[in-house]
Amino acid sequence: MKVKIIIDGKTVEAAEGSTILQASEKAGLAIPHLCYHPAFAPEGSCRMCLVEIEGLPKLELACSTLVREGLKIQTKSPRVVEARKAVLEFLLAEHPLDCPICDKAGECKLQDYFEEYGLFESRFREIKEKREKKFRLGKRLILDRERCILCTRCVRYLGEVTRTGEAGVVHRGIRSEIGLFESELIDHLYSGNLTELCPVGAITDTDFRFKTRVWFLEKKASLCTLCGRGCNIFIEFHPGFPRTKLPRRVYRIRARENPMVNRFWICDFGRYGYAYLDENRQDRLVQKKGNRKTTLTKEKAVGFLTEKINGMKLMGRLPWLAVVLHSGLSNEEIFLARKLFLDGLGLEKVFLSDPPPGKGDDFLLTSERTPNKRGWQEIGIPSVPPELLSLAESTHLLIIFGHHFASNFNPAELRNVLNRIPMKILLSSHRSPLDDLMDIIIPTPVIAEKSGTLTNSDGIVQPFEPALQRLEEAVPEGDFILDLARELKVDRAFFWPLRSTEAVYRALADEIPFFK
Ligand code: FES
Repeated sequence: MKVKIIIDGKTVEAAEGSTILQASEKAGLAIPHLCYHPAFAPEGSCRMCLVEIEGLPKLELACSTLVREGLKIQTKSPRVVEARKAVLEFLLAEHPLDCPICDKAGECKLQDYFEEYGLFESRFREIKEKREKKFRLGKRLILDRERCILCTRCVRYLGEVTRTGEAGVVHRGIRSEIGLFESELIDHLYSGNLTELCPVGAITDTDFRFKTRVWFLEKKASLCTLCGRGCNIFIEFHPGFPRTKLPRRVYRIRARENPMVNRFWICDFGRYGYAYLDENRQDRLVQKKGNRKTTLTKEKAVGFLTEKINGMKLMGRLPWLAVVLHSGLSNEEIFLARKLFLDGLGLEKVFLSDPPPGKGDDFLLTSERTPNKRGWQEIGIPSVPPELLSLAESTHLLIIFGHHFASNFNPAELRNVLNRIPMKILLSSHRSPLDDLMDIIIPTPVIAEKSGTLTNSDGIVQPFEPALQRLEEAVPEGDFILDLARELKVDRAFFWPLRSTEAVYRALADEIPFFK
């Protein structure tokens, strides 16, 4: 049921049972708030959301007052603004003015509201209370008790979301502070969300603390690829970082709201596991001749491979060609691989080599450590793991996508088998022990550097766009497969019209109803 209310003279339709704050946010009218968070029950402790309701003598809390038919609300009347100034004055009576050294500066709600409503001379002349500046709250979390405004978002998160309940408000009156209960530290897989929840700079994490200022960071939407959930994230980075070869340096990962996938949260595995974006990257397209490495272009590599495969075709030796794929590729790339290697060339040796599974939980983290296992299954390439013995037997040309292949075998056995295969080509985003055993290495981008779609473990297909600039020589796997298919003149009617990722997705959806 809907009710009609008037906010600042604008008639707004709101769902019955929603609060004034929710209704006004939906209508695009922001009401300042610090303790309210849509994931929890309202607490009503900060008083920043006070509004004036016609006919009521006192100002009311927008975060906990429910809408009623005909309610007339003022969110910016002189009374409301005066009240907000007073609330800020009280909050800042104890909060230190250390924005120049605070990691939250630039994205602090208290700082923003002070800019908007404050800018007044405080009337408090008392010396501020001294509190602990570096209380170890979690394995990676530091609590600055002087900055804490006791909004209790952290307490409610630990009570209502993770249900681990490690922290609470201890002591009374002016001595009130956030304290830990029985456990010694907040040490679970979802602790990093507390740094995002804290509206001020009270909870910071050791990973980001004092590393940079937030206004230097660029922020782009992406998907986490470290498990099968496909959590929606923001990647935050310095563009053009001068001290690395890369066109940027990533500083942090933050959760991006998606009610269907990860709500407001991400796990610490995804949050702190971003080093792979910048470190150990494969950056040169090379061919090895004896002990010498020469640089190559994508066109030359594709031409070389075309010649080899055509030769094998002529001699009836296509069964000697083996391909190893992985499910960290996008739906489009897996589909193109199926169309070329299985449907087009009719290869028998097409394998799947993923990173080994890890421990999952019943919240977000899945046990598979790859983002598109479900997409792989729906596209219908059989999930056959590579066997060294079968590879060793009569394989003359081996194309490996991804570096995980190396982690699934004993290094000595792997070296032994690969040394027996005359030609090996690796398309990989990262360096690995495989590099020394390959004849051609083609660097590839990671998901954050390309576009396409991924299917998460619940079967939700999610598009992604490049969040980071890709390395100069990196070749997206989809482009490589398309070029190879065109050069080999396999199924021209299918491959030739495909000029964009969207066109590949349309072809995929036409063929497999799951993707419609
Ligand atoms: Fe309403 Fe804090 S947001 S009291």
